[in-house]
Amino acid sequence: MPESTEPTPPAAAAEPTAATEPATAATAATRDDTTTRPEVTPHSDATAPLADPADEVTEIHPDVDITPDDIGVPEVAEGEKLLEVDDVTLRFGGVVALNEVSFHINKGEILGLIGPNGAGKTTCFNVMTGVYQPTAGGIRYLGKPLGKRKKFQITKLGIARTFQNIRLFANMTALENVLVGVDAHHRTGIGSAMFRLPRHRREEAQGYARAMELLTFMGLDGKADELARNLPYGDQRRLEIARALATSPQLLCLDEPAAGFNPAEKAKLMELIRTIRDQGYTVLLIEHDMKLVMGVTDRIVVLEFGRKIAEGTPAEIRDNPAVIAAYLGVDEEDAS
Ligand SMILES: Nc1ncnc2c1ncn2[C@@H]1O[C@H](COP(=O)(O)OP(=O)(O)OP(=O)(O)O)[C@@H](O)[C@H]1O
Ligand SMILES: [Mg+2]
Repeated sequence: MPESTEPTPPAAAAEPTAATEPATAATAATRDDTTTRPEVTPHSDATAPLADPADEVTEIHPDVDITPDDIGVPEVAEGEKLLEVDDVTLRFGGVVALNEVSFHINKGEILGLIGPNGAGKTTCFNVMTGVYQPTAGGIRYLGKPLGKRKKFQITKLGIARTFQNIRLFANMTALENVLVGVDAHHRTGIGSAMFRLPRHRREEAQGYARAMELLTFMGLDGKADELARNLPYGDQRRLEIARALATSPQLLCLDEPAAGFNPAEKAKLMELIRTIRDQGYTVLLIEHDMKLVMGVTDRIVVLEFGRKIAEGTPAEIRDNPAVIAAYLGVDEEDAS
């Protein structure tokens, strides 16, 4: 379903509105071949040659060190539970978007969250990031309940996300967009900033360096001064990931990062997600493209009509009759 039903984030908060209209929600079970690539706003210089964004694959620089900064939250050992979704139910009036869903994410893994359109995947992200409070059940993070924490408090605790429909500050540069993410953890107050005290200047310089590293990692360093809305679609998607990484999250949640990508871009994205994990992040990935999900994840959780119908390794999920039935829209017995 389209994300437009999500509450619009407040203006000037760390969550901007869509810079590019999203791929429209498809009604087919897999969106892969039904997604239309959004139109890209061309550069304002009308004389500049327009590259076909569908053919453009930005080279990433996986060797740039983007390991998360210490944001002052407890470290979880590799392989231990980082976040637990505990029996979560969420109702919107008569719609049960999540129905007694439980799963967990281990530190250091790439967990896939899949399911047909309307299965509850984005809603799950929304519950984990404080957009919605569950009707029943709860989220445990770092061993403690998230409770009624607000979105910005959850960002400070180290959970970051990207959106199914790209949300960038359209009229800010690529660099400024990433700096918004870096600023989420700045400790100096307004007084220190106004008087440009040394501590503030040091933080500012470190923030700038980190933002530039992230842009370089994403292959966007040459576009640091471009307005977000003028970037090709694929670059906007990567910029959104860079901004999420700028908050030094323990958990990075990506909602359909490959929507609208061509096969070459998808292959690059797989490499990118692996590299992000190798640099010390835990990744929760919503994705419709089965090849991408199977190729990049360690484990997969499958939702259908708000319920968890399967969980396992990519090989287990591939052969699971309930999953096949959910995706093909046939009875489970026929699929087995
Ligand atoms: N704010 C809302 N108000 C009412 N219903 C909602 C709201 N948000 C989600 N829903 C409903 O909850 C269900 C799950 O939606 P959700 O967006 O989480 O699905 P999804 O798995 O992300 O689907 P898609 O693959 O299309 O993105 C759908 O039936 C949807 O209509
Ligand atoms: Mg969704």
